[in-house]
Amino acid sequence: MPDTKTASLQFLGKQYNLPVRIGTEGEAAFDITRLREQSGVITFDEGYGNTGSCESTVTYIDGEKGILRYRGYPIEQLAEHSHFVETAYLVIYGKLPSPVERAKFSDLLTEHAAIHERMVYLFESYPRDAHPMALLGAMVNALACYYPHLATNTHFGDKDNFDEAAATLISKVRTITAMAYRMSRGLPVIYPRRTLKYCENFLHMMFSDPYDHYECPPVVSRAMNLILLLHADHEQNCSTATVRMVASSGANLFASAASGVCALWGPFHGGANQAVIEMLQAIHADGDDGTRFIAEAKLGKNRLMGFGHRIYKNYDPRAKIIGKACEELLQTLGIKDPLLDIARRLEYVALNDSYFVDRKLYPNVDFYSGIMMRAMNIPVNMFTVLFAIGRMPGWVAHWREVAMSGRPRIYRPRQIYTGSVKRDYVPIEQR
Ligand code: SDX
Repeated sequence: MPDTKTASLQFLGKQYNLPVRIGTEGEAAFDITRLREQSGVITFDEGYGNTGSCESTVTYIDGEKGILRYRGYPIEQLAEHSHFVETAYLVIYGKLPSPVERAKFSDLLTEHAAIHERMVYLFESYPRDAHPMALLGAMVNALACYYPHLATNTHFGDKDNFDEAAATLISKVRTITAMAYRMSRGLPVIYPRRTLKYCENFLHMMFSDPYDHYECPPVVSRAMNLILLLHADHEQNCSTATVRMVASSGANLFASAASGVCALWGPFHGGANQAVIEMLQAIHADGDDGTRFIAEAKLGKNRLMGFGHRIYKNYDPRAKIIGKACEELLQTLGIKDPLLDIARRLEYVALNDSYFVDRKLYPNVDFYSGIMMRAMNIPVNMFTVLFAIGRMPGWVAHWREVAMSGRPRIYRPRQIYTGSVKRDYVPIEQR
């Protein structure tokens, strides 16, 4: 059996031996850490589709088999048996909490739900119609201003406040989101309640008013828990890789998470859930049943948002879970949403069309999540904010892996330069 622990590379008559790293699930990687030092040559992988930037213990994905596990636990089991706060603990600390640990974590989130009163003035300074993702990114970064003791430089500084910083971030993003929603509509700000659980408290801050408490239907609370749980982490996606990049400079948790919010906003990434609904609404408004839209997508005239994935070349397991939960939620609430019918038809047509099948394009997490959030009266422009709330535990866990690795090493990719070769300055009178 050839030694699978070393690979050899031939170049210009020389041989270079590359160690091979093998993960706990058997995936292998040529370790090129010392390639440039030995050969003077770098590798090139635009979009990092074939490049591992780190080792991580948080999440495992097998894109070919449609497998997703948080800390080894299959997403299907967590979706069925767990809830967001417990899963957040698992993602961050690497184990399912004991009853005492779970209660302590939940109490810490309750304790940190309120935001600094002066942050209200920060909200006041933004236009009423500011996009909630712009507000979220700004306010998450601003947490470093209002809670400086939790925003320490980690590589060399104090790490004892990690639990409090993590709880502050995961808890306050709800309050920030609800405040953005209320202030955009000129509604009075609703403060968190100590007696409410994570999702109920969020929906209370969103939809209660001073005279009438919003009683969260259990089916809605379960749906919100499921949405957030399914978004809790997804290994080295664009925004998480950004969080790790920023963390590698020694930046604090809030700055790193704010960079994740910015990266997540793009329609090719977390912004896709908003783009899916806008796509379905446009198809519905055109009186199209999806057939025309699919035909145009195949010609490259548009993209079937919520379809395709860099890693999943099979069904995104989250899409399966959300698709089923979406039907159940709408049925329980007695909602007949024409967008769901269009989504189901798009899925059926695409899954039987060679253009999509040949490119291994399947529904991803964003395809049905928006229809669920719409049923919970979440405004479309806040869908990606909810994705961010769900993803906070993952960003915290990956920031912690980098910040507390014990051997700080800033991320600094190389490039292949394709610009002008050396040329001399030309005085302006000669141009
Ligand atoms: C998320 O990485 C993560 O883990 C992300 C995420 C997470 O939890 O963090 O899972 C969350 O971001 C999910 C993805 C949400 N984005 C969308 O739904 C937007 C629509 N999908 C795409 O734009 C696209 O599929 C990507 C961005 C998701 C993946 O793009 P890739 O891997 O770079 O693939 P590609 O753009 O090179 O496409 C390959 C081919 C192309 O056709 P050809 O050039 O071969 O003819 O597939 C086509 C593309 O045109 N294609 C699509 C398509 N997605 C790819 N054609 C129509 N509709 C689509 N959605």
